[in-house]
Amino acid sequence: MTQQQENEQGPARALFAEATAREFETATERLEWLYGTRIDQRKDPSALEWLNRLIKGGARGLGHIDNAMHVAITDGSLSDGEFAQFLAAYYWGSNYGFNKTVLPGTLKSTGNDWYREYIKNIIREENTPSSHWGIFKRYMQTLGFELGEPPESAQDFVRKNTAGYQAELGHAIGYALAVEVESDFQLSLIALALMKRFPRATAETIFFDIHLDSSGEEEHARMTCGAVEQLLDAGQIHREDVEAGFVQAIVDTRDFMLAMHEEVRDAQPIAQIW
Ligand SMILES: [Fe+2]
Ligand SMILES: [Fe+2]
Repeated sequence: MTQQQENEQGPARALFAEATAREFETATERLEWLYGTRIDQRKDPSALEWLNRLIKGGARGLGHIDNAMHVAITDGSLSDGEFAQFLAAYYWGSNYGFNKTVLPGTLKSTGNDWYREYIKNIIREENTPSSHWGIFKRYMQTLGFELGEPPESAQDFVRKNTAGYQAELGHAIGYALAVEVESDFQLSLIALALMKRFPRATAETIFFDIHLDSSGEEEHARMTCGAVEQLLDAGQIHREDVEAGFVQAIVDTRDFMLAMHEEVRDAQPIAQIW
């Protein structure tokens, strides 16, 4: 999308316009296109060739891009109730759990000054202009969706995320890098589905714009690259650990998606509260 389009309508609506102008035969094709525009085509964030390759190709070959949950979100096959259940699980795992458990727990448990600074930065970002989980919660309320209790899928994901962020430094920073890179793609696909399904409420929230803006996840990924480069230079981390951490985060995110898909499919239809 052009810079002008982004400025005029905000990045979420601009992406939606771009996506609806195209025709796709399958959900996989649409997801691949989206991955291409959000990840492959962005400017190389690092001075290191292997790190750029990891960022652009590290999620490939793991069955993540077109996992069953991504396909169901994209092909419109979920009922509103199933979509609501997915969003609640997503909130508890990627949103509330990440902000209230993973980040503060990591800050407490790490003694590395540099990593502490990095985590503090992410916490600051996650609270600008106000807490992102709060913004998402209000959006859910606007839709009339209940958040309920954290389901098993989300609890498990928060445990795995915690282990990833609190692993040995090279692994941890690779893990954090993948989370930032991947979330740009995942939030894009969720935003597109929501704009189609609930256009008015979705146009009103700033949640997707603040994440899809180039100052959002793309900038977080760039910042994380800077950190990886410094730590490599200082001999504090090794390339193989960064790569392993990156892959682990993609696998954990994929498994969270698959677990949510199972939960959504298994659930008995509950009373229509929306
Ligand atoms: Fe956020
Ligand atoms: Fe981020």
